Amino acid sequence: MTGAHDGHGRPDGTARHSPSPHTPSRREEWKRTATRYATLPLRLFLGLTFVYAAFDKLSDSHYLAGAGDAASFVSQTQAAEESSPIGWALGPALHAPTFFALLIAFGELAVGLGTLFGLWGRLAAAGGAVINLTLFLTVSWNVSPYYLGNDLAYLMAWTPLVLAGTPYLSVDGYLARRAERDRLRGLPEGAVRRRALLDGGIAAVALGGAGLLAGSLTATFGRDRKAVADNPPTPATPGSTNPAPGGSPSGSPTGGSKVTVAAKDVPVGGSAQVKDPATGDAVYIVQPTTGQYCGFSAICTHSGCTVDAPRDGRMYCPCHGSRFDAKTGAVVNGPATKPLPKYTVTKSGDRLELGPQQA
Ligand code: FES
Repeated sequence: MTGAHDGHGRPDGTARHSPSPHTPSRREEWKRTATRYATLPLRLFLGLTFVYAAFDKLSDSHYLAGAGDAASFVSQTQAAEESSPIGWALGPALHAPTFFALLIAFGELAVGLGTLFGLWGRLAAAGGAVINLTLFLTVSWNVSPYYLGNDLAYLMAWTPLVLAGTPYLSVDGYLARRAERDRLRGLPEGAVRRRALLDGGIAAVALGGAGLLAGSLTATFGRDRKAVADNPPTPATPGSTNPAPGGSPSGSPTGGSKVTVAAKDVPVGGSAQVKDPATGDAVYIVQPTTGQYCGFSAICTHSGCTVDAPRDGRMYCPCHGSRFDAKTGAVVNGPATKPLPKYTVTKSGDRLELGPQQA
């Protein structure tokens, strides 16, 4: 090339510095890597949690029990039917509760495995979002304030995976890279897609089969072990006691200092909150029927949240929606399976005194 401007120098003939390709610094490299794997911790957490939740359901003897068990799928669905905005849609689940209970458990397993292995990751994440949306509209609908209900948080956590998929450290990533190589080899697009779909399907069948087998074994053998763990045999040693929830031995005095409230502060159907002097736990003193007083621990027997004060004959746990009968402390609907521990309350004059926790 001739002339004043040959493309390698300036018009005035001086040499031009050609821009050298930018070599990213280690800091920039690190940032790029961190961005690429940004959803990986979330993916691991959601995948493992869903696999765990599935096995927990399948190994729980209460989950598939009938309507008589407050923690069963059918009892929780019945309770949700009354209060959920999609209660009208729960009819089929109540007609075939075992089928739907297993569908949810195995659905969670499929979502968890798909997310963990990154196989059809967007589809798995969308499935997880649908499950959590359903649980939010049913089980968690009455949780107040809303941020204490975890299903809404899970629903939001699925969103990045629905949008981004699982392109790294995943089966999806492997299939995508191989499809790219096939294109470079000149394979027609239709054939590339068919191959990716077929191999993805084979991986899904293999993973689903392994999950189905593991889930079935858990449902068959895990439930017996968990039932024993939930109800350990009473020690044979004469005179021994089982510790009650909260750490106090059942039936033992709860402390030396007296806890009293004015009787007028506990109307029929109402309550007054005091503290067990032995444990510091909140206790509701109640008057279920005129002249009859007792106390209930305010600590939910599911995971230890504080239940709300009695209202309309029920005590409601805001964490996961368990409800307890305000007259007896019995579970109305789970996930709690054990009643609220009860306390003796005695009336002397115009004062009510909190007594020991009952056996
Ligand atoms: Fe889970 Fe109360 S702590 S229902």
